[in-house]
Amino acid sequence: MAHDDELSRSVIPVVFLEDDSLRRALIVQALANCGYSGCWSAPARSSILSEHLEEIKPRCPDLLLFGIHSESEESWQNLERVRSVYRGPVLVVSEVFDELVRQRVMKLGGPEYLPWAEAGQLGLDLKIETMLAIHHVENVIDDNDHRMQRLFVNILTVMVKILESKDPYTRFHSHSVAMWSRMLGRKKGLSEEELLRMGLAAVFHDFGKIGIPEEILNKPVRLTNEEFSVMMQHPLIARDLLSSIDLLADLLPAITHHHEHWDGSGYPKQLKGEEIPLWARIIGIADAYDTMASRRAYKEPKTPEQVMNEFRRNRGTQFDPQLVDLMLEILEEKHRSGQVFNSSTESSRMAPIDSD
Ligand SMILES: [Fe+2]
Repeated sequence: MAHDDELSRSVIPVVFLEDDSLRRALIVQALANCGYSGCWSAPARSSILSEHLEEIKPRCPDLLLFGIHSESEESWQNLERVRSVYRGPVLVVSEVFDELVRQRVMKLGGPEYLPWAEAGQLGLDLKIETMLAIHHVENVIDDNDHRMQRLFVNILTVMVKILESKDPYTRFHSHSVAMWSRMLGRKKGLSEEELLRMGLAAVFHDFGKIGIPEEILNKPVRLTNEEFSVMMQHPLIARDLLSSIDLLADLLPAITHHHEHWDGSGYPKQLKGEEIPLWARIIGIADAYDTMASRRAYKEPKTPEQVMNEFRRNRGTQFDPQLVDLMLEILEEKHRSGQVFNSSTESSRMAPIDSD
């Protein structure tokens, strides 16, 4: 069968059906940014859809993206055919945001919706990252009761949405940190399984902010020392809240210690060097990156050169020196190849580089 953009056939986490070849290229880039090099794509046209569906079925992809032509009934019928064959997570993308389209997608009971016009490349990266992380949790639950699985995944989804709604500036921050953590973890040589679990820890790394008063969380200027000491409670709040979920137990050390510093000057336990869990050291660097590269209410984003200099300056004090070297390699590669330094465009204000 003919594929317009075929990458690797060995790993097929994501399949996308989209007529526009430019968008297919953008999706490939978004997936690469998430650390997924293997994917498979094809046009969504009716004439060849049956053939595609035959191929998709045995591949059991982790995620399926479908480019809808919302004005075309034929396109909607094609989406329904896709749903009848593939019951995993589906992300429907459309040309422009349309509330009626959103409602129609929701009625299909399962697919999520992302309009191209609103997404931009970063939005697509983050959406894919979150859907894959949540889908992975669903896969690893060894429980024959499907309703319980759905309930657990739904609860995780709601938790992410609550976190995002609590602080509008952090809407994309957690997912951006997940994306950079995975890139750095991959460079460090973590297994696919570890990357998925660590990515999920990164999605929840600031979950404890849910227990921080909104007047502190959303204060448009720098915090006082007293307010900052309240903010410093967020890793422990997250640990306490999430510790009641057995299936997230392996994520807790990374979440609890993402603000520890290599020289022992961080919080909450002043751990030093390799006492700090590896995932926490990786997430700490990704968190610092996104904070520096993001626009805040009171500051412009740092330039790529400034970000890299800041990492060099804090190498061995705030950050694990070896991980900083790997992060600099990633950033230099991206800089050389002219890629945009992705970051969340807005994120909550923090006191030092990474420390709220
Ligand atoms: Fe944090």
